[in-house]
Amino acid sequence: MQEITPSDTPVVRMVGITKRFPGVLANDNVNLTLHRGEVLALLGENGAGKSTLMNMLVGLYRPDNGEIYVHGKLAEINSPQDSMALGIGMIHQEFMLVGNMSVAENIILGMKGLPLVPPLAEIKKNITELSKRYGLQVYPDKIVHDLSVGEQQRVEILKLLYRGAEILILDEPTAVLTPGEARDLNEIIKKMLAEGKSAIFITHKMDEVMEFSHTVQVLRRGKSVNICPTASIKRIQDLANMMVGRDILFSLDRGPYNPGEVMLEARNLVMNSIAGGKRILDDVSFSLRAGEILGIAGVAGNGQQNLTEALTGLMMVNSGQVFIKGKDYTNKSPLQIIKSGVSHIPADRGRMGVVGDMSVGDNLSMKKYRTKELSNHSIIKRAWVRLFADRLIEAFTITTPSQDTSVKFLSGGNIQKTILAREIDSCGGILIAVYPSRGLDVGATEAVRQNIIKQRDSGNAVFLVSEELEELLMVADKIAVMFEGRIMDIMDVKDAKTEELGMLMAGVERRDI
Ligand SMILES: Nc1ncnc2c1ncn2[C@@H]1O[C@H](COP(=O)(O)OP(=O)(O)OP(=O)(O)O)[C@@H](O)[C@H]1O
Ligand SMILES: [Mg+2]
Repeated sequence: MQEITPSDTPVVRMVGITKRFPGVLANDNVNLTLHRGEVLALLGENGAGKSTLMNMLVGLYRPDNGEIYVHGKLAEINSPQDSMALGIGMIHQEFMLVGNMSVAENIILGMKGLPLVPPLAEIKKNITELSKRYGLQVYPDKIVHDLSVGEQQRVEILKLLYRGAEILILDEPTAVLTPGEARDLNEIIKKMLAEGKSAIFITHKMDEVMEFSHTVQVLRRGKSVNICPTASIKRIQDLANMMVGRDILFSLDRGPYNPGEVMLEARNLVMNSIAGGKRILDDVSFSLRAGEILGIAGVAGNGQQNLTEALTGLMMVNSGQVFIKGKDYTNKSPLQIIKSGVSHIPADRGRMGVVGDMSVGDNLSMKKYRTKELSNHSIIKRAWVRLFADRLIEAFTITTPSQDTSVKFLSGGNIQKTILAREIDSCGGILIAVYPSRGLDVGATEAVRQNIIKQRDSGNAVFLVSEELEELLMVADKIAVMFEGRIMDIMDVKDAKTEELGMLMAGVERRDI
């Protein structure tokens, strides 16, 4: 828990807030109070209404009913500029930076009161000073699309600080960060609190809630169902129960380990960096069998992403070979690889996973239109498609008013469930899953892990990239550790020890452990 004690002065009061969307009551008469110096953890299942409630504080949505008071005064927040003027700033679940502009340009974008030609040199100097003060490494001249997600996150934070936000809203800020980056973010938030700022923090990670917040508020299906001091929570299970209304097992059923033939094999893959220097992939070899889950451990950014892109045809390798079911698929196109039976749950779901303007139903069925399941003599059977989509919506508990709703209107976690459902369902032998439980609530996380195990039990081969050792130890049969583009070691999960994995992840050679 935070050492800093919040004051009794409310900085934000939301009273009786109600917000409807077509077919959904997203917020139902919600009250929320944030005090000066307080961290309030806002929790709830995917689709519970957390982001919606916060978007009303920053003027992206208008409540249908209810009032918002900021520093005791009734506030009319009609735009992000209005909320900024009140000292409120938000880091969104989906980043909102402009990719082809520099860091400095992004930070001042949309700020009121700047001269027509902003004094960039001075602005950059201020940004650098501010970033030093908070220990945030940010380079004002870098172009945003060259930054890693961790760096982009720092720019988002700096943007808030630069604009003088006193009330910070952080919507799953650590979902895309590595454990190390998440710890850094923690430290920054502590510094901001020490200056009297306040924060509302949305997360699905229960340990962060316990470490970070003073108060916990839980939403369920749009209603506020519980508010309590974090210190009064004795067990993480109790928190999970408050959110989903049932116990979460935190343990999974799995069948015996019966590996079959090799389904996916990498032989000495090498990917050179265009800029020169260290290789992106350095002599990577592994084999993955039917009925087996190979977990890839490693701190994000050590080549896991590039490896999956090489396996799925999204990036070319410079040398080495990829075999799928015994056939050479090195540097083949993504389509050829999909046709060979590979399903892919990508890390970057915003850009690669779904078509936002298409309906949930079409997104779920788009990989299967041409199969016998959904068409007859190449004529798509709409009725079959509807039944199929409804079945997946139910099986994966996707919260949506109907299968006709556009995917872009779903909550972050439910967009993710849509991709998972489509890819897991269409798996033709090999499933490549990258951070599958990112952004999912505890209940959905459990369901996804169980589903991955079910794929393996039914004879599919699963390549699972995860940052959470706990998840890998729970789900995988074998674990490979990646560091700087290399596989440091591959071991059976029964021989894997957390400390050893941690050392390998940090680049310590096996012989030195
Ligand atoms: N612009 C919109 N149009 C229609 N429906 C919407 C819109 N924004 C949100 N919703 C719906 O409102 C409900 C609450 O969504 P919200 O994004 O607030 O959930 P959340 O608690 O943030 O979930 P997650 O943990 O998955 O991010 C969902 O059913 C969602 O589909
Ligand atoms: Mg959300």
